[in-house]
Amino acid sequence: MIEGRRIWLTGASSGIGAHMAKELLQRGAHLALTARSLGPLVELSERFPGQVLLVPGDLTDHLQVREIGMTIAQSWGALDTVILSAGTCEYVDVSQFDARVIERSVCTNLLASSYCIESALPLLRAGRTPHLVGVVSAVTTSPQRRAQAFGASKSGLRYLLESLRVDLADEGIDVTLVSPGFVDTSQAQNNAHAVHRHWPASKAASYICQQLLKRPREIVFPTRFLKLLNFLTTLPKRLHLALAKRLTGTQGETSL
Ligand SMILES: NC(=O)c1ccc[n+]([C@@H]2O[C@H](COP(=O)([O-])OP(=O)(O)OC[C@H]3O[C@@H](n4cnc5c(N)ncnc54)[C@H](OP(=O)(O)O)[C@@H]3O)[C@@H](O)[C@H]2O)c1
Repeated sequence: MIEGRRIWLTGASSGIGAHMAKELLQRGAHLALTARSLGPLVELSERFPGQVLLVPGDLTDHLQVREIGMTIAQSWGALDTVILSAGTCEYVDVSQFDARVIERSVCTNLLASSYCIESALPLLRAGRTPHLVGVVSAVTTSPQRRAQAFGASKSGLRYLLESLRVDLADEGIDVTLVSPGFVDTSQAQNNAHAVHRHWPASKAASYICQQLLKRPREIVFPTRFLKLLNFLTTLPKRLHLALAKRLTGTQGETSL
C-alpha cells in the first residue's frame, strides 16, 4: 500500500528517481524530494499539491543532509520509506588511472548515502512498517571494464545496506537493494552502444515501485540479459570479450 506513505526519495530530479517520484505521487504517497536541481522538484510539487515536501541539497555535504533530516522531522516527525536513488557514474581510463574518479564516485554513491542513512534511521524508527531502499547496480555482481570507480562505490553501498539489513531486522526495518543493469538515462550515455538493451526510465520506475510492495531483498532487471552477461564472465577471457562485444557492441563495457 503506497497511498499515504511518507517517503524520502533522493535523486528525484531526473532519470529513474524522477519517474519513481511521479509514479509514487500518482499512487497517493507523500514525498520528500531531494536533488541539487530545484526546478524539477518544484514542478512535481506544483503538479501534486499537498503531497510534496521540498528538501533540495547536495547530498555529499554532511551538514546539508543533517538539515534535510531535521526539516523532514519537523514537517512529518517520521518516515515510512527511504529510497536512495541519487548517484553518479564516471568511467575510468585505465591507461591514465586517476584516483580522483574513484574519490568522486565513492563520495556521491557511498558516503552521501551513508549521510542519508544517518539522518533517516531515527525517522524510520518512528515510522510505519519502515523500509530502507538503496539503488546499487548490476555491475556489483559482474565486474565490467572501465567501471572500477562506479562498481567499487556501489559495491561498498551494497555491503553497507546488506549488513544493515542484518542489524535492523530486529527493529522491523526492511532493507531492499535495487540493481538496475541498463536504464536509458543520462548516466547510461557513456554506454550508448548497448542502448538497444536499455529499459526506458519510466518502465524501470514502474517495475521498481511494483516490486517494492513485496519488500524483496533485491530487485534486479533486466534479469535474463544480466544472467547471460554473468554467465559470460565464467567463460575464458577471449571468448568472454568476443561474445560481450557481439552482445553489447563494446569491448565488455556492458552494464552500469
Ligand atoms: N541508468 C542506469 O542504467 C543505471 C544502472 C545502474 C545503477 N543506476 C543507478 O540508478 C540511480 C539513478 O540513476 P539514473 O540512471 O536515473 O541517473 P540520473 O538521471 O543521472 O539521476 C541521478 C540523480 O541523482 C542526483 N544526484 C547526483 N548527485 C547528487 C548530489 N551530490 N546531491 C544530490 N543529488 C544528487 C541527480 O540530481 P542533481 O544532479 O539535480 O543533483 C539526479 O536526480 C543512480 O544511483 C545510478 O547509479 C543506474
